[in-house]
Amino acid sequence: MRFYVPTDIYVEKDCVKNHAKEMLAVGKRALIVTGHSSAKANGSLNDVTEVLNDGGVAYQIFDEVEENPSTDTVRKGAQIARESNADFIIGIGGGSAIDAAKAMALLIVNPGLNADDLHKTPSHPLDHAPVVAVPTTCGTGSEATPVAIITNHKINLKKSIPHRIFPVLALVDGKYLASAKKQLIVNTAVDALSHMVESILNVHSNTLNRMCPEYGLKLLGECKEALIASVAANNSATQNTSQNAAPIDASLYEKLMLTSTIAGMSIAMTSTAVPHGMSYDLTLCKGTPHGPAVGYFLAAYVEICHKKVPNDVEKVLSLLGLQSVEEFAEMLQKLIGTCTVTRELRDQFATAMKTNHSKLDLVPGGITPEEVEYIYDKSLMVK
Ligand SMILES: [Fe+2]
Repeated sequence: MRFYVPTDIYVEKDCVKNHAKEMLAVGKRALIVTGHSSAKANGSLNDVTEVLNDGGVAYQIFDEVEENPSTDTVRKGAQIARESNADFIIGIGGGSAIDAAKAMALLIVNPGLNADDLHKTPSHPLDHAPVVAVPTTCGTGSEATPVAIITNHKINLKKSIPHRIFPVLALVDGKYLASAKKQLIVNTAVDALSHMVESILNVHSNTLNRMCPEYGLKLLGECKEALIASVAANNSATQNTSQNAAPIDASLYEKLMLTSTIAGMSIAMTSTAVPHGMSYDLTLCKGTPHGPAVGYFLAAYVEICHKKVPNDVEKVLSLLGLQSVEEFAEMLQKLIGTCTVTRELRDQFATAMKTNHSKLDLVPGGITPEEVEYIYDKSLMVK
């Protein structure tokens, strides 16, 4: 058994300012990689630039990272990093910004590597520049994983790149959730939930690496009613059903952020499993946000695993404070609703998934093609 997360992780209020010294020690010139607006709105960009200004570290800002970052975006950011002689990258935002930062960190020290070849497995591990991660959503966990999910539109591929890039430093502060839309918080929390469930229901799960998802699921169980209430409050048709539950407020931000980082540490040890493998096509073809795209497949995956590793599924349910797989499915339905696709797309997804052995081989006890079909039938509505 092994537990290996080499990232120096701080989870606390005002941790960017509190750990300025650690960030300034990473390099001399930074490229800050972020999305178009949220890092400005939630104060994270300002916190980081204040630290860099006070510490005399030069920086350039690349704020063009889109949801599901592309190889073209990564190429553009890496080019700017090279032109400004950046020797480290600071990713601020959700998984898209942090994953793009990781890929740029790889490109800037490997000028011979073309961004379009990022998904090809290299003959030997490649170096990368150091990455600092400042997450501002509560789902990706990318600050604590070596994984970067990049999309190559030229070959219609959304997938993790084979290079392993752990950030050297992660500064995790729940206050950045304050300005986030509630549905974004819910969507990303479903991603964190999926990370932990897929980490436990996974052939790589063991006593040592279960410490993370088991504790994280308990934390998420404490947040679930507030998450459900927030969704219901946004939906006037169901508003009356949620009046007894307190929606997401500031007291939960720190807990949700901590859960997300713990969920990242979970998949850093085991990798994600079938629901993530199924989600990528849905996002690529329909633009479904990552959290719901994974969440739609999660209940049926848990149901399939219940036959193979019943004790593990019962453990997941009890940590979340749920009684049954049906209750688990109901919780997800309340959080993210349902997904409808065409028959053609559903069949296309299922056919492709049956050859995705990097994910199928992670199912405890194995999974049959019929069980793959069953997950699609249960998870997607067909029009
Ligand atoms: Fe994910």
